[in-house]
Amino acid sequence: MTFKDKRIVLTGAAGGIGEALARQLASEGARLALADLNSADLESVAEACRRLGGEALAIPTDVTNRDQCQRLITMTVETWGGIDALFSNAGVSMWARFEDITDISFFEQLMAVNYFGPLYCTYYALPYLKESQGRIIVITSSSGKIGAPMHSGYAASKHALHGFFDSLRIELLDTGVKIALIAPLYVRTGIRLHRFEADGGHPSVDPYETSQSKSMTPAQAAGIILRAARRGKRETIMSLKIKAAVKLRPFIPGVVDSVIRRKVRQR
Ligand SMILES: NC(=O)c1ccc[n+]([C@@H]2O[C@H](COP(=O)([O-])OP(=O)(O)OC[C@H]3O[C@@H](n4cnc5c(N)ncnc54)[C@H](OP(=O)(O)O)[C@@H]3O)[C@@H](O)[C@H]2O)c1
Repeated sequence: MTFKDKRIVLTGAAGGIGEALARQLASEGARLALADLNSADLESVAEACRRLGGEALAIPTDVTNRDQCQRLITMTVETWGGIDALFSNAGVSMWARFEDITDISFFEQLMAVNYFGPLYCTYYALPYLKESQGRIIVITSSSGKIGAPMHSGYAASKHALHGFFDSLRIELLDTGVKIALIAPLYVRTGIRLHRFEADGGHPSVDPYETSQSKSMTPAQAAGIILRAARRGKRETIMSLKIKAAVKLRPFIPGVVDSVIRRKVRQR
């Protein structure tokens, strides 16, 4: 399967994994409706996509806002007459022990971006995806499959995605719509610079400066995501270690918890 001429909505497209996905899709000749908060960066990604051979619209969108998600879908359909795939990729992260948090309000923002964003976009895109027998691709996280310290609110928002989309997949049996959930582990993007910390603020220096050796590049991650999207594979856990942890946890939960705690402490 190729994405040539496919009409694709992609959120979180202004940087990181989203930008890498946009570039790879554009080089296959896709028609892209690119959404993100940051309109200047979004426009330059759209321009790069056009140079790579795709068509691209930059549609500034806050995915926490229902009306803006509806507008994103409406503008895409008005331009290309339908939608073949929705990539829900926009996301925000956190790094704090729950008991150390002094401003708990960012938990609402984590749910708003990571859970309600994909849900709203899916809600408005679904009639068109049914028409095209299209695909819903959701970028979750290894924290959506297994809990991790310092990530409680993030893990909750990503677990919610698995619960929601696993249920929706069953509702959509026999419609031809495929749902692929893809869970990355460490990818070298700006996500750690934008993450919420205990006081609800963001770090002043990129934490990746000290720990990027084990991360994959956004382009590598995008390659894996597109392979899974093409196959319509229902779930892809990108790290073998996380895959093993998910399989082993029902049998040796205490051991798995200790290993996860040690690994997170090392980062
Ligand atoms: N990088 C990793 O190690 C990793 C691991 C597991 C899962 N993931 C998941 O992968 C996805 C992409 O993350 P990334 O690593 O590429 O991070 P990133 O570089 O920070 O990209 C995320 C994008 O989402 C945008 N965004 C944030 N809030 C938004 C909103 N309300 N509406 C629209 N766009 C919004 C950000 O815009 P601004 O920059 O303007 O805020 C940013 O461009 C996320 O869902 C993340 O949870 C990443």
